[in-house]
Amino acid sequence: MERPLNSATHPISTRFLFLLISSFLFTSTWPCIEAAATQELLTSFEATPNPSIPSFQPLLNDSSGKFSFGFLRFNSTQLALAVLHVPSSEPLWLANPTTLARWSDSTKVFFNGSLVIADSRTKVFWSTETQGDQLVLLNNSNLQIQKNLDNSNDPTVLWQSFDFPTNTLVETQNFTSTMTLISSNGLYSMRLGSDFIGLYAKFDSNSDQIYWKHKALQAKARIIEGNGPIHLQVNSDGWLGMYQNGTTPVDVESFNSFQRSLDGLLMVRLEPDGNLKAYYWAGSSWVLDYQAIRETCDLPNPCGSYGLCTPGSGCSCLDNTTELSSGECLGSGSYLNNLCTDPKTQNDIKVLRREGVEVPFKELMNYETTSSLEECEDSCEKNCSCFGAVYNNASGFCYILDYPVQTLLGVADDSKVGYFKMREGARKKKVDAGLGVGIGLLGGAAICLIGAIGFGSYKIWMSKRGLKRILEEETGGVMSGPYKDLGSASFRSIEMCSGSRR
Ligand SMILES: *[C@@H]1O[C@H](CO)[C@@H](O)[C@H](O)[C@H]1NC(C)=O
Ligand SMILES: *[C@@H]1O[C@H](CO)[C@@H](O)[C@H](O)[C@H]1NC(C)=O
Ligand SMILES: *[C@@H]1O[C@H](CO)[C@@H](O)[C@H](O)[C@H]1NC(C)=O
Ligand SMILES: *[C@@H]1O[C@H](CO)[C@@H](O)[C@H](O)[C@H]1NC(C)=O
Ligand SMILES: *[C@@H]1O[C@H](CO)[C@@H](O)[C@H](O)[C@H]1NC(C)=O
Ligand SMILES: *[C@@H]1O[C@H](CO)[C@@H](O)[C@H](O)[C@H]1NC(C)=O
Ligand SMILES: *[C@@H]1O[C@H](CO)[C@@H](O)[C@H](O)[C@H]1NC(C)=O
Ligand SMILES: *[C@@H]1O[C@H](CO)[C@@H](O)[C@H](O)[C@H]1NC(C)=O
Ligand SMILES: *[C@@H]1O[C@H](CO)[C@@H](O)[C@H](O)[C@H]1NC(C)=O
Repeated sequence: MERPLNSATHPISTRFLFLLISSFLFTSTWPCIEAAATQELLTSFEATPNPSIPSFQPLLNDSSGKFSFGFLRFNSTQLALAVLHVPSSEPLWLANPTTLARWSDSTKVFFNGSLVIADSRTKVFWSTETQGDQLVLLNNSNLQIQKNLDNSNDPTVLWQSFDFPTNTLVETQNFTSTMTLISSNGLYSMRLGSDFIGLYAKFDSNSDQIYWKHKALQAKARIIEGNGPIHLQVNSDGWLGMYQNGTTPVDVESFNSFQRSLDGLLMVRLEPDGNLKAYYWAGSSWVLDYQAIRETCDLPNPCGSYGLCTPGSGCSCLDNTTELSSGECLGSGSYLNNLCTDPKTQNDIKVLRREGVEVPFKELMNYETTSSLEECEDSCEKNCSCFGAVYNNASGFCYILDYPVQTLLGVADDSKVGYFKMREGARKKKVDAGLGVGIGLLGGAAICLIGAIGFGSYKIWMSKRGLKRILEEETGGVMSGPYKDLGSASFRSIEMCSGSRR
């Protein structure tokens, strides 16, 4: 299985082509959910994927009929165990997002006290390693393995899917400091700090750059040291609550639907572009209810590597001799590897300087204070773990990029100067398709583009050039792998289902 991070070194064009191809595949072969299942699975349960089912094979429904647990097929040959929101066919949880099984009769799922996915050739793929009595799907989409103890009417919960979220939290679900949400492309994650929610980017295998931080406001209750870690809960009344060990929230992040008590399911998802969004199900589509990052240029990597995002005018390239028109700022193969682990590339380095740039999320970035631009550049030049530096002449702050250069922020102030290492000969090469960014995309009409919302990729039309472009929401273009596929697969399913039900 290809790891998402390794794919950072792959040509964007190839990945993009793959996306296009797989999109077509899914569009033509993705129908809606069929059949049904029971409400509890006992220890004799065993199932294999049915070769004639193209999309989702339910194994267990919840009592409301809104959720279903079963086999989710994608990329035609692969299989994940998933909990789906039935009306939208949207996966809310995946058992094995990084180790997918094959959709073949050699794969089986059984419940012998543990829920196990096994393959006759590779043996056990994934197991809950429990000794339970039954598997149930609760009406909040939580999949539980329960044990019946002799002296109690209430079964004990041995394992639950809510303890292992994928990229999504649903209403009533708790998110604790030991959990992580990971975006479908594996690039971004959400974790809790002692008093804040943090979103982190993995731009290379060493990096764990925080790009969004929401500190508890502590208006109604304070965080008290020693009272344990904080946790979050998605509240059905349209807000994300942060709690310590009491029931009064230490922070309330309200959504548009705040206290409007809507019927539809509410969910919070870490998207492949690094944004954290909330949606509610409005009966036929998901409606955007909240987004942590409102401005495109504030996303972690909206214009890709060596891109420049200027609020109001969109994406361009750091290197002004390079045009973004081909969709990316650097050609394939020009990506700069870590110079410490790959010292032979040291000789191929050239330097790119650009005025009027700033680091994004600068209040969360590392900096040194230097007395001059030269000193700032010098400290980066000498340090193999420095990929670039941005100097603010007014403050003397020298921001250090200790991860491969991503999108920088364009500013009108020319005293802010960037110094970027890049690979010699790294010039734009021919690419098949591009990624572009529509500024204001997040805010407006584009959201309601294709039926539901753009989980995965969606299309925009770049009016400027009159070109029809496809914008991958994962604008970094640094992804692929199972998460990605599932993202676009599930997105297609929404399109298909809403179409075929009309
Ligand atoms: C399971 O859900 C399907 C819809 O996905 C529904 O048609 C079926 O009646 C449900 N079965 C049970 C046993 O609830
Ligand atoms: C589907 O997955 C397989 C195995 O991971 C991979 O080799 C293949 O390229 C994928 N198919 C498509 C259309 O990308
Ligand atoms: C269930 O099956 C797995 C995989 O074959 C095995 O490792 C485990 O011991 C079994 N558990 C029980 C309780 O039989
Ligand atoms: C879910 O089940 C609980 C009992 O387990 C019940 O109190 C609640 O009303 C149900 N909610 C819905 C939406 O069906
Ligand atoms: C979330 O945590 C609260 C407080 O610890 C608890 O009362 C509630 O049952 C939990 N919700 C779920 C769905 O587990
Ligand atoms: C929170 O934890 C502290 C320390 O463990 C304890 O003294 C306090 O009573 C707890 N508060 C609540 C509301 O449980
Ligand atoms: C590119 O930038 C350099 C220095 O920042 C400037 O001298 C040059 O005129 C610019 N070229 C173009 C085509 O804008
Ligand atoms: C090199 O840069 C990294 C990342 O900013 C920093 O942690 C490290 O201390 C620097 N090393 C030296 C020798 O300055
Ligand atoms: C940088 O700051 C110094 C003194 O603070 C000033 O003399 C110089 O003109 C500034 N340079 C630019 C490019 O703004």
